Amino acid sequence: MTDRYAVIGHPVAHSKSPEIHAAFAHETRQDLSYERVLAPLDKFRQTVSAWRDSAAAGANITLPFKLEAFEFATVRTARASRGGAVNTLKFEGAEIIGDNTDGVGLCRDIVDNLGFAIVGKRVLLVGAGGAAHGVAGALLDAGPALLAITNRTLGKAEAIVEQLKLTGGGPDCEFRALELAALPAARFDLIINATSASLNANLPLVPVSCFAEGSLAYDMMYGMTATPFLKLAANSGARTADGLGMLVEQAAESFALWRGLRPSTVPVLAMLRQAQAVARPRN
Ligand code: ATR
Repeated sequence: MTDRYAVIGHPVAHSKSPEIHAAFAHETRQDLSYERVLAPLDKFRQTVSAWRDSAAAGANITLPFKLEAFEFATVRTARASRGGAVNTLKFEGAEIIGDNTDGVGLCRDIVDNLGFAIVGKRVLLVGAGGAAHGVAGALLDAGPALLAITNRTLGKAEAIVEQLKLTGGGPDCEFRALELAALPAARFDLIINATSASLNANLPLVPVSCFAEGSLAYDMMYGMTATPFLKLAANSGARTADGLGMLVEQAAESFALWRGLRPSTVPVLAMLRQAQAVARPRN
């Protein structure tokens, strides 16, 4: 019988996960299907329960439900517990296993695909919602000199820092919450936008002065056009990257959890980049 998976979120119409998992399944000759499931904002639990009851094998969870998915899981992997967020569910008998592959996906894209070493760098993570929760631990484990987390609502950034301290901190790394007012005096080698501001074409509150020459600006969102955050970064001379590579890398890690084998990511990312270039408006 074909095993069924889905991405569950709100919105999901834009999601490229079905294409990515279809390519992985083709390459590895796995018999599975992958679809999009839109969950009403106030009905996450009901939607996932119904999906599980339909004899599905698992799901990816996307915004804004990653924190709710953590609560929904009956068993959580260490990396999911570290951030208190889940982006991958695997249904195994009576158990609902919750994992988080976002952090490893982000770090693999930055280090392996983009060739940017995180070790010893000054890193700023912007945002403190489910997306930021999911990647903060992996960023810390990548060994930066500093990991600062900033957010419009500072208390949420402080909560991530507290959670990281509870789960073991990081190797020789300073990590702290940073108020937005402190940003104009700071410089970072790597700035990661983990807010949902790009979804509404809004700008997260990072001043131009934060981007050092040679720094990398990474937006965890992806789309046909550069986000306002990436445009600002490019105008400041920073190197820029959208979240398409992270999407493919986190998908490969979810696929490995579900199927027990790891697909190649490079050809899938190349295919998506080509489609992105063809669809990009010319002006
Ligand atoms: P996700 O699962 O994508 O992280 P979320 O949990 O709703 O979604 O979190 C959204 C994040 O984007 C938060 O950090 C939010 O800031 P607040 O905690 O202050 O709400 C941030 N965000 C959303 N729109 C923003 C904007 N226009 N400017 C700055 N930050 C924004």
